Amino acid sequence: MKIIAVFALCVTLFCQGYGNTLDSCQGRCGYGTDSNYSCQCNQACERFKDCCSDYVEFCKVGSMSCKGRCGEKYNSQNKCHCNSKCTRYNNCCSDYAELCNGGGGGGGGGGGGGVVVTDAEIKAISETLFALDSNKASASELIIDPQALVPDSQTGSQTDLSSVPLFSYVDEEVLFSKPTYAALLAVLDNYQRMTGQTEDFSPQQLAEQETFVNETMSNTELGRELFAFLYTKGIYASEEEFLHDLKMMWFGLYSRYNNKMDSSGFEHIFAGEVKKGKVSGFHNWIQFYLLEKRGVLNYYSHSFDGPWTNYPDVLGMQFMWDGYYKQVGSAIIGSSPEFDFALYSLCYITRPGKQCYLSLGGKTLIIQTYTWNNSFYGDGKKFIGSAFPATPRN
Ligand SMILES: *[C@@H]1O[C@H](CO)[C@@H](O)[C@H](O)[C@H]1NC(C)=O
Ligand SMILES: *[C@@H]1O[C@H](CO)[C@@H](O)[C@H](O)[C@H]1NC(C)=O
Ligand SMILES: *[C@@H]1O[C@H](CO)[C@@H](O)[C@H](O)[C@H]1NC(C)=O
Repeated sequence: MKIIAVFALCVTLFCQGYGNTLDSCQGRCGYGTDSNYSCQCNQACERFKDCCSDYVEFCKVGSMSCKGRCGEKYNSQNKCHCNSKCTRYNNCCSDYAELCNGGGGGGGGGGGGGVVVTDAEIKAISETLFALDSNKASASELIIDPQALVPDSQTGSQTDLSSVPLFSYVDEEVLFSKPTYAALLAVLDNYQRMTGQTEDFSPQQLAEQETFVNETMSNTELGRELFAFLYTKGIYASEEEFLHDLKMMWFGLYSRYNNKMDSSGFEHIFAGEVKKGKVSGFHNWIQFYLLEKRGVLNYYSHSFDGPWTNYPDVLGMQFMWDGYYKQVGSAIIGSSPEFDFALYSLCYITRPGKQCYLSLGGKTLIIQTYTWNNSFYGDGKKFIGSAFPATPRN
């Protein structure tokens, strides 16, 4: 009875696509603790001894399968390997030939194993996304005052060289009433910034995450364009798969500190965190604005200002967030939430862990992404560790 009730709840609420059974880790690696399942699939389950029986197979480094690992770099911790050299060293996993087509493969994140996306294609799609960002701020809706510009060598000095806020004016009425901004605001306040503190989400908050993915990627032309591109490249076979993968990649929890499920790509990149006494991540202008307005963030200076003269622009900022310093926090400024989410996702999916060269209005933007390597979701896919505009040295 109980199982049936839970299953029904799961189907009607928000578990669709997360996994098909209540006792398997398929599609659930790292995604929080959920007492409605009979066993768990995040790192903490090893301590609490309540991991599902297929936890190791699906979620652990050391897995005996090549599921989601084709072409991955050699890691001596793994019991068997899935890159082209394993045939030579005779240490391939048993399903290597079957799953990896006898070689190739790539992509740490996303669904892009083995798919080739050229730099020219990435530039072209980024120009298209740039042109489609109809929800970005106009010059009258957003006014900034960047004030002091400092050289890289002085970003560590922790000196407030700007007497007034970075954001002089934001037309909240116009911008924050747009569905994608509203969806972002709803998710941003669901996090505790300290690493080492477990994140816990109510069903309402989990629905907010899904709403954010849906609003930005399914209900905007920009999002649908990104999907069309990745679909055409064979990276995703359906929009459902695309949305589900983004949700896991961005919102799936993992542990940055002390084995607590304290972090996710979304929290790190959009909300910002504090780790080892410093601000970590934090690459979104709307979060910056909200905290500055509340008086808990003090803008000090910037060390990089992109070549754009309209929004979106890019800044590399020095600031103090309620007692913790960020030496260079780069962000796209004045862009819509769907624009940031799409660019970071594009780069993470096609150039995981690398620099990704975009073209916005004919000018180059480099996005650096990082894969999270210590835990996995789905069939061995990597969560997004970080993504941000690379700021060339000055
Ligand atoms: C688990 O199920 C109960 C009802 O049985 C529900 O109230 C609760 O929100 C569920 N928790 C999660 C994390 O899904
Ligand atoms: C994660 O794995 C990637 C690809 O194997 C590697 O390039 C990167 O250095 C790793 N990151 C960390 C922090 O170990
Ligand atoms: C998000 O979109 C999916 C697919 O269209 C849908 O099944 C789901 O109910 C939506 N979620 C929310 C919270 O709106």
